[in-house]
Amino acid sequence: MPESRPAQPRGFRRLRSFLDAWVNPAFFDFWASRVNRLWSWQRPLARVVGRQQIAADAVTLTLRGNRHCGPVRPGQHINVGAELDGRRVTRCYSPVVNADGTLSISVKKVADGRLSRHLCDGVRVGDVLEIGAAFGDMTLPETVAGAWLFLAAGSGITPLLSLVRDLAARRMPVSVDLMYWAHGEDDLWFADDLRALAARWPAFRVHFFVTRCTPQREDVASGRIDAVALQELVSVLPERRVYACGPTGFVSTAQALLEGSVASFAAEAFSPSDSLPVEDGDVQVHLARRGLTLSLPRASTLLAALEAAGLRPESGCRMGICNTCACGKRSGATRDLLTGELISEPVSSLRLCVNRAASDLVLDL
Ligand SMILES: Cc1cc2nc3c(=O)[nH]c(=O)nc-3n(C[C@H](O)[C@H](O)[C@H](O)COP(=O)(O)OP(=O)(O)OC[C@H]3O[C@@H](n4cnc5c(N)ncnc54)[C@H](O)[C@@H]3O)c2cc1C
Ligand code: FES
Repeated sequence: MPESRPAQPRGFRRLRSFLDAWVNPAFFDFWASRVNRLWSWQRPLARVVGRQQIAADAVTLTLRGNRHCGPVRPGQHINVGAELDGRRVTRCYSPVVNADGTLSISVKKVADGRLSRHLCDGVRVGDVLEIGAAFGDMTLPETVAGAWLFLAAGSGITPLLSLVRDLAARRMPVSVDLMYWAHGEDDLWFADDLRALAARWPAFRVHFFVTRCTPQREDVASGRIDAVALQELVSVLPERRVYACGPTGFVSTAQALLEGSVASFAAEAFSPSDSLPVEDGDVQVHLARRGLTLSLPRASTLLAALEAAGLRPESGCRMGICNTCACGKRSGATRDLLTGELISEPVSSLRLCVNRAASDLVLDL
């Protein structure tokens, strides 16, 4: 199973922890980065070593990390950050782990998106980006068994492509169907690579769909995800282990169609959704570590409200997956947008990106 980087030897880690007591990381980084922008005492950074336009509105960036970048398993995600207008903006991307240890992220430009526009239009070979630790559970076991079904829509193809390549590197030991939806044929990223993999490995089948135009190629059908396509194209559906990835609406439809009627179902949504009724008014949120009290709207997630108030809490996926934004809640009630639950008890790990304030709060921030 390929991983991007092996763990550091124990002797090296001991020397590092001894030196940690003596070195000021900010001072070291300031001077070291003047020699090489990738040098840092402890920050995981990666240099862009390749850039390829893969569609009119999407690029693949190949990244070579410094020694602080941890291992990444196929199917996992990483937070990628860049300084934009003096502020660090971090979002989450699903890299393909290449044989030479580099990572390739494929990024779709979101029309009014901050980081995706920068990654697609502003970043050049030689630039340096911040990289977070890998996270996510949609990976494959060391010994893979059973029959699998991967469902992807839009940029949701990225972790699933990584898994297909992982299986190909293991000589495709299981039966896999990949169903992949995009707006048009030009938006089907890596279509030729996937066709080549299907031609090479009979146990792997790829089914392409477009939703906003008439398909030109024989192996592309039109239409959205539905029960008929799933029944017609996928043999022994009840035995399948399913991974689905894409925008929230796609993932919820896949879940409604399949959960409970297949061997297992796991999904990750890439785009935000906040479908719960909006609550009016403001609440008082006390940030205990800063000794600061703010009046924040109930209508926004706590992360968005704090950002709008000029603060910069740590964040990454903004979807409740990576835990980067989590902080303690000492008192008050919050609404979890993923479950709809009202939580009135103190918690040690409140994810600011998927919770709204439902009453006055005291946070460990
Ligand atoms: C686990 C995970 C893995 C991801 N992997 C990838 C990947 O491999 N490739 C990739 O291109 N993207 C991926 N994304 C989406 C990515 O993290 C960003 O959300 C996306 O690039 C937009 O960021 P932005 O800063 O440009 O937009 P923002 O400035 O955050 O948002 C601008 C506007 O766009 C909307 N928006 C935000 N994200 C999306 C989206 N994904 N689709 C449509 N509208 C959106 C927002 O609601 C807002 O209105 C992933 C997301 C998650 C949670
Ligand atoms: S930013 Fe990832 S869980 Fe909140």
